[in-house]
Amino acid sequence: MEKNNIILIGFMGVGKGTVARAIFKEFGRISIDTDDIIESNTKQKIKDIFEEFGEEYFRDLEKQCALWLEKSITNTIISTGGGFYKQENLKKIGKIVYLKSSFDAILHKIYSSKDSKKKLKKRPLLQNTIQAQVLFNSRIQQYEQVADMIIDVEDKLDIDIAKEIFTNLQGKS
Ligand code: S3P
Repeated sequence: MEKNNIILIGFMGVGKGTVARAIFKEFGRISIDTDDIIESNTKQKIKDIFEEFGEEYFRDLEKQCALWLEKSITNTIISTGGGFYKQENLKKIGKIVYLKSSFDAILHKIYSSKDSKKKLKKRPLLQNTIQAQVLFNSRIQQYEQVADMIIDVEDKLDIDIAKEIFTNLQGKS
């Protein structure tokens, strides 16, 4: 049976969490976040998990989280970490919505936000801009390939993105 979750994927800082909150405000659909689930289960911050155990270990935690989502979660908006789209069972969890933006627009969004320092500090893979750009370039095609729906989010309000997602989903069902 296909599940009615909506999975938001996309690069770090594109706004998956804020769009999930806008969906709750507009449509009353509850959201959860894969990084939050991992942090709450391990009682550790993502950046500390990376530092202490390395990226591979973190990816394994994401895998466990993906299996749990498939088994246990319905009718929910799931915002994900930027690398979560690689999970093999993603399609079994729900409809995959890719929030698309250019790298420059993402950086601009992060640097112009009032808590930009915090946003940068918590993301180990965003510490070096050049390396982050390389990572972005290596992922853009894969995000598009795995997505059921692509939403261009550049220069749009979160509430309008939320409405666009729901309008498109209704058109698809
Ligand atoms: C990652 C993105 C982060 C977090 C981790 C790894 C990635 O989540 O899961 O630092 O590989 O892109 P956000 O996309 O919420 O920043």
